[in-house]
Amino acid sequence: MLTMMAASIHHLCIMRRAGFLKHFFGFKYCSSKRASTKSAAAKRESSITKDQYENIERKPFYKLLEERKEQAERSVLVSCPSNTSEKRFLKHMSRHGDINNCFFYESFGTYAVVEFSKRDGVLSVFESASIPNFPHEAAVPFKSRLLSLKTNNSGDLASSQPSVKVLSQTAIPIDELVRRLSKKDSIDQQLLLLTNILQLTDENIRLRFLVCSLLRDIAASYFPECVVRPFGSSVNGFGKLGCDLDMFLDLDGISGISQEKTGSSYSLEYQLKRTSTERVATQSILSVIGECVDQFGPGCVGIQKILNARCPLVRFSHQPSGFQCDLTANNRVAMKSSELLYLYGQLDERVRALVFSVRCWARVQGVTSNIPGAWLTNFTLTMLVVFFLQKRSPPLIPTLDHLQALAGPKDKSIIDGNDCTFVSDLTKVKLQENSDSLEHLLLEFFEFYGNFDFSKLSINIRKGKEQGKPEAAPLHIQNPFQPALNVSKNVNGTQLQRFVSLCQESAWLAQQPEVQSRSDTPWGLAALLVPLDAVGKGKKSKRRRAEAPSARIKGLLESLRTGKASANGGSTS
Ligand code: GTP
Ligand code: MG
Repeated sequence: MLTMMAASIHHLCIMRRAGFLKHFFGFKYCSSKRASTKSAAAKRESSITKDQYENIERKPFYKLLEERKEQAERSVLVSCPSNTSEKRFLKHMSRHGDINNCFFYESFGTYAVVEFSKRDGVLSVFESASIPNFPHEAAVPFKSRLLSLKTNNSGDLASSQPSVKVLSQTAIPIDELVRRLSKKDSIDQQLLLLTNILQLTDENIRLRFLVCSLLRDIAASYFPECVVRPFGSSVNGFGKLGCDLDMFLDLDGISGISQEKTGSSYSLEYQLKRTSTERVATQSILSVIGECVDQFGPGCVGIQKILNARCPLVRFSHQPSGFQCDLTANNRVAMKSSELLYLYGQLDERVRALVFSVRCWARVQGVTSNIPGAWLTNFTLTMLVVFFLQKRSPPLIPTLDHLQALAGPKDKSIIDGNDCTFVSDLTKVKLQENSDSLEHLLLEFFEFYGNFDFSKLSINIRKGKEQGKPEAAPLHIQNPFQPALNVSKNVNGTQLQRFVSLCQESAWLAQQPEVQSRSDTPWGLAALLVPLDAVGKGKKSKRRRAEAPSARIKGLLESLRTGKASANGGSTS
């Protein structure tokens, strides 16, 4: 029975894994190896085998991003009246060209993303579109691929009943997540389900690339050959529905940083108007693009230019997609970090499941926050998970030094004097046989950081080893590509201590029979997603902070038993 269950979970994992990889990057999954999975499943319940991973056809990160970018360039975003008939709309749109893909979603109205098979489709839609003429507003002569289906002309596209199937682009509320997790039969299944529920969907990824492409159209009025690339959790495999959209204005193709011509008789004068430093150039470029987005960017609102930050950026909301956007420039190291995290996430499915679960736990427990401050960030948490997995015996994932040693000549990458080289071909990475279950890994994660000597030690994922701290910051995680920098510099002692205490409490809680036994009330991972601070809300709230952790946990256990524990009811974002 157990073997059968393990095999079916295992099969589910493979299907989902294949599904994720396929929707993210559209590669083919080789099904011929599936028959051999049952015996392997007995060995490693929650994961697919190395053999199966090796049989998955994978493309390098940049090639895959390029495909998504090209797909977005053939797409338009259409605001539709709520009574639009999906069938008639598609028929109408297909007059402009063959349609590869189309979906609807809601964000301050109903929108459709239509991907044509060729760019000609987009041009044809443009030709047929009219310029709006409002008596009290002047039209800005800027053409964008964000269009509106006009109600008065769309009579033939309307239907008496809402006939559009809209896809959700937001994460489910935490109490709904807890409820669904509680129905699962094992903690391993819970971690995998959580990942499956929270991860970005294919449509959401398409929308992210489309927003980058729309932004690129705006920036191209100044820099015609620029590219706007997504990075961070939109592409590193750890993105959750509702996460922000980090973008990077790439001007390297124009400035020639990546392709210096030798032997040319001419050089371009005033290319950067000889600004004193690269930072000043970045600030002025972002300032101008930010202004342009503010004045002419359709659907872009609440523009803030945060140019004095360590990494200057323009922040705004893109209303049609509902994304909170951060546009940076000259940020190639962050792109490398995204590629590295993507690679780790693809090597073994347990990496993503653990990162998603730890991130969700951290958000619910208030370890991370949407507001910038002295909290741990999702990026920092991911580095902590990566380091923990490198420290397993045998290691579940290799060190960055090992990935560098596997790199080929094409992988060479030096950014601002820092060697950012590592292998891009995933099939070259051979993993060691680690059979830890997800349940075990989650518990061990809490134990590991509940007992880690943060006061003396620094975390280094390049070496996969802790080292003496080079500076007095409470939490020191060496930036893998800029060794002089600490990625968790913002974290203060209070927030670090809070993280450590919550790890200790969660490790203790996870081992309690009430939490381990399958029941109708939140159990296993679901029990860990009930805020520990929620215990004794109300009357006891003033006393709560003074209580010993174990007393708080006992209170939580009691409330779990009586079914009174309430998740915070908010969203998981
Ligand atoms: P979300 O919280 O889901 O948005 O995760 P994220 O990984 O996208 O994090 P965030 O939006 O804060 O940052 C985007 C990317 O910038 C990260 O993935 C990293 O590549 C990079 N980044 C963020 N913080 C730091 C930092 O402190 N140091 C360095 N070097 N890079 C960082
Ligand atoms: Mg982000």
